[in-house]
Amino acid sequence: ASASEEKDLVIIGGGVAGYVAAIKAGQEGLKVACIEKRGALGGTCLNVGCIPSKSLLNNSHLYHQILHDTKNRGIEVGDVKLNLQAMMKAKDTSVTGLTKGIEFLFKKNGVEYIKGTGSFVNEHEIKVALNDGGETSVTGKNILIATGSEATPFPGLEIDEKRVITSTGALSLEKVPEKMIVIGGGIIGLEMGSVWSRLGAKVTVVEFLDQIGGPGMDTEISKSIQKLLKKQGMEFKLGTKVVSGDASGDNVKLEVDSAKGGKAETLDADVVLVAIGRRPYTKGLGLENAGLEVDERGRVVIDSEYRTKASHIRCIGDVTFGPMLAHKAEEEAVAAVEYIKKGYGHVNYGVIPSVMYTHPEVAWVGQSEQDLKKANIPYKVGSFPFSANSRAKTNLDTDGMVKMLADPETDRLLGCHIVGPNAGEMIAEATLALEYGASTEDIARTCHAHPTLAEAFKEAAMATYSKAIHY
Ligand code: FAD
Ligand code: NAI
Repeated sequence: ASASEEKDLVIIGGGVAGYVAAIKAGQEGLKVACIEKRGALGGTCLNVGCIPSKSLLNNSHLYHQILHDTKNRGIEVGDVKLNLQAMMKAKDTSVTGLTKGIEFLFKKNGVEYIKGTGSFVNEHEIKVALNDGGETSVTGKNILIATGSEATPFPGLEIDEKRVITSTGALSLEKVPEKMIVIGGGIIGLEMGSVWSRLGAKVTVVEFLDQIGGPGMDTEISKSIQKLLKKQGMEFKLGTKVVSGDASGDNVKLEVDSAKGGKAETLDADVVLVAIGRRPYTKGLGLENAGLEVDERGRVVIDSEYRTKASHIRCIGDVTFGPMLAHKAEEEAVAAVEYIKKGYGHVNYGVIPSVMYTHPEVAWVGQSEQDLKKANIPYKVGSFPFSANSRAKTNLDTDGMVKMLADPETDRLLGCHIVGPNAGEMIAEATLALEYGASTEDIARTCHAHPTLAEAFKEAAMATYSKAIHY
């Protein structure tokens, strides 16, 4: 296929939303092109998000564990040294392997990959400024906008990705900072804060709200993980907002104030991580040339079938509504292509899991206690601590619990919130249960292998509809 012929589908953006849609469209027999400007496929997630952060989280955890948690396991180690360059190289190897893998999948599924920056000429034509120079244009019967998001900047603090950094800078610092301040105690702040704290930085998290974890985390679980992260050495200033910053001196200085007004203070650090959320990215896309709109938060406006005002132009992923998560983007990609090809598709927005990859991990799906209270929905609670789980005990990794929320009459699961080892894997079971409308009794009567961490999940269900055996 050549760029000049009309495609069934032209996708702008080769992140998780765009590349998954491209592969799915290829599988469905559509003639498809995907335009990506980064020079690599996979978007934020694979290049500067999910994947590199998990590499650093995994390896920094291992380092921290070797330093602090071996003696009681009967392992004596000698001199332990951090080789940050090699840790970064391991991260880069994972990233490159995965992004190249997508290029392979593009070839396998007949997707044309156009390396350049796309912008609307009109409702059907996209002009592409090619990365290698020159320009081309491509027209599509259908067009999919999947241009993702970028870090929200903090007014008055210029990002240089060395001293004032976003998550992107935090994934490739050349040395461990002595002092790091994280503005925003959401998922990025806590994951990247954990990495650098484990590697030796003194990390202070400044969070506007009275709880960490960002929107959606159950308050009880948030308190529990905050205690555990504090034990690991991270400091928290909650209910505190950063008013202004100054990076002109040797250290970066931040003026902070109590969120309710009052107690002002100056903090300083050699590195400041700005992690106050992400915003949709539509720069240079020429949306106006296709008559398209964004809302007050910059999100491309769509209907429930991902259609913009122009019904052949759809939009998915971080650049539009909903949680900014890779697996949400992926679900939407498949559904959007199904709408195009078959006329129907489906994503259940009530059942999208969230995972924070700290140690222990935090994971949840469905409604939190505060959600249910706010909506006046009656519920009952059951929980089970990992300290009573045999596998967690043998692994000497017993912090945390599984908490379930269920309908008091029918026992139907309404939400599950886990802080604990492997919470991110275990939440898949809760997600499946919620999707299928399982009751806590259904879960409790399902045989779980012994000894596994997942038994804590089963026992939390037992505790919700009846009583746990081991607690
Ligand atoms: P993106 O991944 O941002 O992709 C959009 C792509 O479009 C980009 O590659 C961009 O270059 C390209 N593009 C933009 N404009 C144009 C144009 N005009 N022409 C051509 N190309 C263009 N989510 C999780 O679910 N789990 C995690 O563990 C997780 N960890 C994260 C860690 C970090 C540090 C960050 C920052 C994010 C993390 N996320 C995680 C969120 C996840 O990365 C996003 O939800 C996901 O990448 C969204 O996919 P997307 O395709 O919508 O957008
Ligand atoms: P976030 O929305 O999770 O958290 C931002 C936090 O910053 C909020 O708690 C907010 O109250 C606080 N804040 C805002 N302004 C502030 C100020 N002036 N002073 C102090 N605190 C302030 O956003 P974050 O962490 O930047 O992540 C962006 C997105 O990336 C999230 O939506 C998340 O879905 C996604 N992501 C997902 C990951 C995962 O799934 N494991 C990992 C990393 C990112």
